[in-house]
Amino acid sequence: MVLSDSDDEKWIYREHTAAKHEVYQKYLTPWTYKLSSWNDKLRVVDCFAGRGSYVRAEDCSGVELEEISTPTDLPGSPQIILDRLTKHSDKFEKAESVFIEANKQNHQDLYENISETTGIADNISKKCVHGEFQNEILDIVSTDGDDCPTLFFIDPFGFKSLDYEVITEIGATDQFEMIITFMSRDINRFLENEDHSDAMETTFGTPNYIDEVGDFDAENWEPLVEYYTNRIEGVGPELTFEYLITEPDTRQTVYYLVFGTNHPNGLKTMRDVMNICGTGNFGYAPKIVDHDREQSGLAAFTSGMEATKEFLVDSFSEYRIEFRKMVEMCYKMRKYEDDVESDYRKAIQDLEKEGKVEVIRRASKTGGSGVTKGDLIDFRNEEELEDI
Ligand SMILES: C[S@@+](CC[C@H](N)C(=O)[O-])C[C@H]1O[C@@H](n2cnc3c(N)ncnc32)[C@H](O)[C@@H]1O
Repeated sequence: MVLSDSDDEKWIYREHTAAKHEVYQKYLTPWTYKLSSWNDKLRVVDCFAGRGSYVRAEDCSGVELEEISTPTDLPGSPQIILDRLTKHSDKFEKAESVFIEANKQNHQDLYENISETTGIADNISKKCVHGEFQNEILDIVSTDGDDCPTLFFIDPFGFKSLDYEVITEIGATDQFEMIITFMSRDINRFLENEDHSDAMETTFGTPNYIDEVGDFDAENWEPLVEYYTNRIEGVGPELTFEYLITEPDTRQTVYYLVFGTNHPNGLKTMRDVMNICGTGNFGYAPKIVDHDREQSGLAAFTSGMEATKEFLVDSFSEYRIEFRKMVEMCYKMRKYEDDVESDYRKAIQDLEKEGKVEVIRRASKTGGSGVTKGDLIDFRNEEELEDI
């Protein structure tokens, strides 16, 4: 029997819900910081907002809110958004939050939960929209490229509303970023089921998805999500990054969070956030050893650093490049390596000591050993320089 979206059974707070909320909560802070530094107005759209509460938690606890009070112990994504925006409300002039919910009962519950939430900063507006994301969103935002920075949470229960045309249209828009819940488990289950072929075609934006998706199995579902990210990268957000969420007690993938952005700095920021969430190494996957945080940490301190240095020297031997730009390029080239900005900084400091690069300290203290945004890293050797 298919449960209605307002059935209490669908509103149990599980470990994978907590894992998703951790990423939402942790990303909102740097996103707000960075974008408010050159924009007066920001917007967050929760496209599948839910009811703003869960009925009970199983083996985990609800998200902690710091700034606002809401009538439930188990709040949903809308309150996470309001809490984080409130926390950083001194950084922007105004922020808009929009919550879209299609189910009438859920929308009613959400409206009541949000109306009874207190402590929200005065410069944050909030609106609950009753309707379907795919029909409403293009009336809410403009995809002409002149709209304010907007972060979209796209979090359906299944996949039939992941409308490829709509997602790629908003995803291709400058200053727009999105986090999509890509329901690998359900998609895998129904991939070849004819009753679901229309929904699959809507999701992947092509009738050829079965032939194109490639091989994947229960142990390795990456090809499925990679097919999806390749499909959207072609026309939607230029850059994507995936975060794996499994069941807590098995290796079973539940979904991926797919992040999409058009800006390398957005990718870098989300990558840094996803690396410190869950069980580390870009996932919440307690039973998959490769996704264990300790292992990734160890790699960074042993052979990992040598590999990083080698990669830098090989890739940038002909460059003199600003440090942050170099890090952004590394993130694009080595999407799923463990290294974060501090690892690249350490590698540059080592290479400087070894005489393999020159650091031109335009931003950090001259005479010191710091390396920061604005500093130039010169990988070219003397002979190459003489040839210029
Ligand atoms: C996974 S739940 C959202 C949970 C919420 N984001 C959170 O983290 O607390 C998905 C919600 O989307 C709603 N929904 C289903 N189809 C929709 C559509 N086409 N547009 C907007 N909402 C939809 C469902 O009623 C349900 O409340």
